[in-house]
Amino acid sequence: MAFPDQFILELKQNNPIDNVMSSYVSLIRRGRNCVCLCPFHSEKSPSCTVYLDNNSFYCFGCGTGGDVITFVMKIENLDYVEAIKFLADRVGMSMPDEAKNNEASRIKARVLEINRTAARFFYDTLTRSPEGEKGRRYFAERQLSPATITKYGLGYAPDDWYKLSNFLRSKGFSEEELITANLCGRGRNGGIFDSFRDRVMFPIIDLRGNVIAFGGRIIDGSGPKYLNSSDTPVFKKSRNLFSLNYAKKSEEKRLILAEGYMDVIAINQAGFENVVATLGTALTQEQARLMSQYAEEVIIAYDSDGAGQNATHKAINLLSEVGVRTKIIHMDGAKDPDEYIKKFGAARFKQLLDKSGGAIEFELEKCKNGLNIDNDDGKIEYLKRCVNVLADISSPIEREVYIGRLAETNRVNKDMLLQQVEGTIKRRINKAKSQEWTEIRTFQKQYKSNPDSYRHPKEYKAEVGIIAFVAANPDEAEYISQRIAPDHFVTDFNRKVYRVMIEKIKNSAFSDIHSLQSEFTADEMGKITEIAINCKDVNINKTAVDDFINILISSDDNSVDIKDMSNDAFLKYIQNLKNKK
Ligand code: CTP
Ligand code: MN
Repeated sequence: MAFPDQFILELKQNNPIDNVMSSYVSLIRRGRNCVCLCPFHSEKSPSCTVYLDNNSFYCFGCGTGGDVITFVMKIENLDYVEAIKFLADRVGMSMPDEAKNNEASRIKARVLEINRTAARFFYDTLTRSPEGEKGRRYFAERQLSPATITKYGLGYAPDDWYKLSNFLRSKGFSEEELITANLCGRGRNGGIFDSFRDRVMFPIIDLRGNVIAFGGRIIDGSGPKYLNSSDTPVFKKSRNLFSLNYAKKSEEKRLILAEGYMDVIAINQAGFENVVATLGTALTQEQARLMSQYAEEVIIAYDSDGAGQNATHKAINLLSEVGVRTKIIHMDGAKDPDEYIKKFGAARFKQLLDKSGGAIEFELEKCKNGLNIDNDDGKIEYLKRCVNVLADISSPIEREVYIGRLAETNRVNKDMLLQQVEGTIKRRINKAKSQEWTEIRTFQKQYKSNPDSYRHPKEYKAEVGIIAFVAANPDEAEYISQRIAPDHFVTDFNRKVYRVMIEKIKNSAFSDIHSLQSEFTADEMGKITEIAINCKDVNINKTAVDDFINILISSDDNSVDIKDMSNDAFLKYIQNLKNKK
């Protein structure tokens, strides 16, 4: 499907990439560009760059990149035409006429229609057919009210291989369409059969109210408890949350995250509208981000068993990466929220929510696992683990509070604990420093061939990085050369390499590093090739190059002889250089 160039141009102009992206991630201005934590992979420091001058983005961590349309396709899980429609809607542009009968959107519309019809069929079977009695009994046992059943559109898939498919075919849907919707499979005899049989059915509904998939729970018998639709043209399980269509309407800026469909429904029925669950998988980064659009705080209400606790730990990390505060409820006397509410009632559950502890309490509590802290050995091990948790807290005040509390409950000296934590923090910093130091020294050794490098290790590293980057990305040469002239290079050899390379690229006489042959001796070419090869493994991206450039620009002529420096002095020296920029 081709759109008129003019239309696309206008669409992009009306949807500046930083504007669109900032509703998903928080952008930090850096020079002419912006950076952010990449929304497409999990990371702690930003490697996704947004180029404002040409309206594009690129993540140096995972390699995702493109223009604003690509961004929307990826983040909203849309095809090209849908992404364009999304952007057009966003700014009130109307779509060109040709776009309206696109094949992919036609299939999606069909699948949604099949799902809606099937959901109706399951619901009707549950509520008003004789064979639905089994499902009705089941939900009654689970204490779901008729109102709840209607609210969630719950249903029952009859114990029959063909009933649903026959019904849907009578409504004019083709076999292929039913298979695409994942409601039917194809048997060995070539015919199709119903995938969900003799199960209570949970429709998955998206934010626009479309039925996008189903989960079906067995009522009795053996085998996996749930059968879930796999991904279809309208469904991606890692991107959706059960009951978000209701939770998003809640006034509260916090969400409850439960493990199962049944937990969500029980919690909702008890009067808490703001509850969601994942769809048969562990929480994903996309889901965490989705939650962050609706909540500042998430209360994790996973099952109280070991699996639930591990899942909690992972969810805390994922959610904090997207800037969401987490609290964790601690259930005594019940395995999951559903059971808790049945046993103790909604009011007690509300109390549980209100006194839910923060992530640190949870992690500290977890340190007790497998230990008997009533005996000395157990207690010592427990406190050691706690020290590691406390050393992770970045705010000194917060650290102090937790240390005080821990000292008190365990009747140990607070200053001693404080010392231990500070010691751990220092050791971690030193370890990071020494890693950096080793890295720089290794780098130096690799390029001993350049004698100047010894006196300017940091600059040398920066120079080599710039050269390698330009060699690999000649199209960036103009941009780089505008930012930094050869004169800024500290070592003679690298200065020459850089100057010649930029010239060659300008004159279109450069294809790769070997194009420099005419200006250098064979030995020198060896050195240059080494630079290019060694740098291939190191991930040099545009952000790194910016750092390199800054190092060179801000470097004074501090040609200190570092050969005789102690390790510590050397580190300090590097640190100083770093701070200067
Ligand atoms: N799940 C799944 N497949 C399974 C088991 C579980 O997809 N074989 C998913 C479902 O999304 C389920 C969730 O994991 O809702 C949590 O599992 P569980 O606690 O066992 O299910 P509940 O929905 O709580 O159901 P019940 O209370 O009836 O056991
Ligand atoms: Mn459960």
